[in-house]
Amino acid sequence: MAIERLVEPTAAGNDLDEEKIEISLRPLTFSEYIGQEHLKNNIKLAIDAVKKRNDGSTLDHVLLYGPPGLGKTTMAGVIAHELGANLRVTSGPAIERAGDLASILTNLADGDILFIDEIHRLRRTVEEVLYSAMEDYKLDIVIGKGPAARSVRLDLPHFTVIGATTRTGSLAGPLRDRFGIIHRLEYYKEPEIEQIIHRTANILNTDIRPDAETLLATRSRLTPRIANRIFKRVRDYADVNGDGIIDRSIAEGALKLMEIDYLGLDPADRNMLRLMLENYGDRPVGLNTIAALTGDEATTIEDYYEPYLLQLGLLARTPRGRLVTEKGRKHLQNPENRV
Ligand code: ADE
Repeated sequence: MAIERLVEPTAAGNDLDEEKIEISLRPLTFSEYIGQEHLKNNIKLAIDAVKKRNDGSTLDHVLLYGPPGLGKTTMAGVIAHELGANLRVTSGPAIERAGDLASILTNLADGDILFIDEIHRLRRTVEEVLYSAMEDYKLDIVIGKGPAARSVRLDLPHFTVIGATTRTGSLAGPLRDRFGIIHRLEYYKEPEIEQIIHRTANILNTDIRPDAETLLATRSRLTPRIANRIFKRVRDYADVNGDGIIDRSIAEGALKLMEIDYLGLDPADRNMLRLMLENYGDRPVGLNTIAALTGDEATTIEDYYEPYLLQLGLLARTPRGRLVTEKGRKHLQNPENRV
């Protein structure tokens, strides 16, 4: 059994209240959206151009990529809101057959935005239908089977796809080529995470001291989703162990309880690094072997554990596998880093 990750996006995902809070925290406009300035400036320009032309043309298809939790879905919501467009949300794995996609596409209206999360997980057969739909707003479908089968070409409304993926590498070239706007979401800067925590505290009517905001920002892996998730657990801790106010000592106590260390690593991260070191030392380890060691899916490791550990330089990718770096080994072995 894999150790439950505090920071896994799905960890609290089945709790309805949690989900409602998460949605209420999402900014709706560019002015509310903190960070990702480069992305915002580029998309704002594209939106302003569409609005200024006002000739019925729609926003180019947008591909957003980068590690999970950095706000790809949130950005899709902002784009739709700023354009005054309807947003339809689906995901690669949810569209099982070409027919599923056909029914989604034929139910869209002009100007609608179709957000496809995990777009790299679309099946090839579905992807092929999507190409021509994105390219010339036509849907080629085959009706019937065998000798009686015939191909029909349907006109589709002029819609915009916003695709989100944790990796562009796994996106088929022809699909990637259909996107006019391609952007990577970057890890946030600590002061931006502080602002996001401040905003969240305001929305959730919680009193938090500036030094506690700073502390939580340093433990949030530069990722808003994680910052908000940690914030909510700290708020619980403050309600139970104090008067609801989050000061530095409350924040420290809660982080200790969650076993989040000073770099923001949780027990699952440390467990993975430890297992790699114990079993392979300084030799590279294949992704599937790591997955077997921790009991996680290889994709979970690739999408959720690895990006931040790579960013910190605790883990390295080599052609022969993953390697715990000297910095990673030191971090793990230094008694001062115990939580
Ligand atoms: N909540 C989550 N991500 C956010 C962001 N980038 N800006 C403001 N609030 C957020």
